[in-house]
Amino acid sequence: MSDFKDKVIYQIYPRSFKDSNQDGIGDLKGIIQQLDYLQELGIDYIWITPFFVSPQRDNGYDIADYFNIDPLFGSMKDLEQLIDEADQRNIGIMLDMVFNHTSTKHDWFKRALNGEKEYQDYYIFKEGSKDTPPTNWESKFGGSAWEYVPHLGKWYLHLFDVTQADLNWNNKCVRDALKQVILFWKSKGIKGFRFDVINLISKPEVLEDDMLGDGRRLYTDGPNVHEYLKELVKDTGIEDLMTVGEMSSTTLENCIRYSKPEEKELTMCFNFHHLKVDYLNGDKWEVTKPDIPTLKKILMDWQMGMQKENGWNAVFWCNHDQPRVVSRFGDDKRYWKESAKMLATSIHLLRGTPYIYQGEELGMTNAYFDSIEQYRDVESLNYYEIMIKQGKSKEEALEILAARSRDNARTPMLWSNERYAGFSEKEPWILIPSMEGDKNALAQKEDSNSIFHYYKKLIHLRKTKEVIAEGRIDFMYLSQPEVFAYRRYTDQDQIIVINNFSHDKIQLDCEFDCKRYQLLLSNYTLHQQKEGKILLQPYETLVYERR
Ligand code: GLC
Ligand code: CA
Repeated sequence: MSDFKDKVIYQIYPRSFKDSNQDGIGDLKGIIQQLDYLQELGIDYIWITPFFVSPQRDNGYDIADYFNIDPLFGSMKDLEQLIDEADQRNIGIMLDMVFNHTSTKHDWFKRALNGEKEYQDYYIFKEGSKDTPPTNWESKFGGSAWEYVPHLGKWYLHLFDVTQADLNWNNKCVRDALKQVILFWKSKGIKGFRFDVINLISKPEVLEDDMLGDGRRLYTDGPNVHEYLKELVKDTGIEDLMTVGEMSSTTLENCIRYSKPEEKELTMCFNFHHLKVDYLNGDKWEVTKPDIPTLKKILMDWQMGMQKENGWNAVFWCNHDQPRVVSRFGDDKRYWKESAKMLATSIHLLRGTPYIYQGEELGMTNAYFDSIEQYRDVESLNYYEIMIKQGKSKEEALEILAARSRDNARTPMLWSNERYAGFSEKEPWILIPSMEGDKNALAQKEDSNSIFHYYKKLIHLRKTKEVIAEGRIDFMYLSQPEVFAYRRYTDQDQIIVINNFSHDKIQLDCEFDCKRYQLLLSNYTLHQQKEGKILLQPYETLVYERR
């Protein structure tokens, strides 16, 4: 895909976006109702997480029918109307393709269970005794990645929930069937695709125990993944659509290949290394303070590495699997507005395509749930049990969930300060966290100093300043551990972006000729710059442009 670098993508988790028929669950018609809001924000594409027929064990990431819409979210007519009305506003719709696994309620899996060999070969079934799983691989949602089916005398592989069975991409029938899914949605006018955990699709020919870990290194960026992606893209003719792959525990080298235009695989990749800097020893379920110098280093290495080889990053802090960034790397109390704006700036002006996750543009915070009954997510519920079994107290386990749960991102969008936040008139499927102050869309649209308006400005800048969309990048203030600063440049233009990731004031020497630069954007109104020094306020962000 060419000419896409000035675009910004907005992610919608439909279940929590807007409920049009008052059943407490967001739906497609709800998205249609809010298209004007999205147009005002200025985004170009909407990626909607899965709304296909599904038992909803993993909120739609367990698909039972790729060609139909779950009635929970509406009908095919609603989707057609959404595509059409979005198109009238120059917004393209991107769908979420979950191709690593299907729900065990998918027809293919049901036929496999019925003993049809042809369909067993759509999945990864292994003969074996019921006492020992074929390998020691672990599910990402906890426990063994294998489930035994007594009447078949076989195990099947599930890297996620036991109801999400991994597909066998080494079977050409599977690859061809999935191409039909893409072709079907493409013919409806879909403008792009997000591919769920797509770098896990290629399992090794021989499945073995992982003596060094949980199995992950054996199937991540697996042996044929590049070949399979190239084939998928070529046979469906989607090289000119917007495509992004979700890459789990990947490497820079692989992401270069996935996203480099010559390779004709994907437009860009998500990777998550920068979102593990608050995991203790790499363990998601052990909380520690974010390590900002490491965060900086990871972002820098990926920016420089992708630039060098002409790869392209998706740049983002939030999605439906991550805690809210303002609660995580900012201060959602004392410096709520300042830190939300600083975090937005630090990402949006990088080299790459920015993603905004619903509510991020309002500075939505973590849920702060304090009882297990408030949680809905299968991963959170599984890990709560695991943590209790490991000997953690309820309080400790709840504290960890409060920081880590995917439900932090899944609380309803705060449209107004009405009852149920203008999301629905009925009690929503998941609790609405505190709505105090102006943490809602209605209030922020009215206030030109709001986080919402700040995001609008950032989006607009990318569309009007070629240096942001197309320019090169290098980094500044490397010796300042809490300052993330960079320069974007073309032959003609230059901007400098300085972000204070700390609670403290920081004094900087002007590493550039301050007089030749003017301030383009900031999150404070007073600026303290004199005699070649810049005094950064807590969480301050400064964007300068060369005159
Ligand atoms: C991806 C999705 C996540 C889902 C998982 C399994 O990581 O983002 O929500 O649970 O894949 O499909
Ligand atoms: Ca609804």
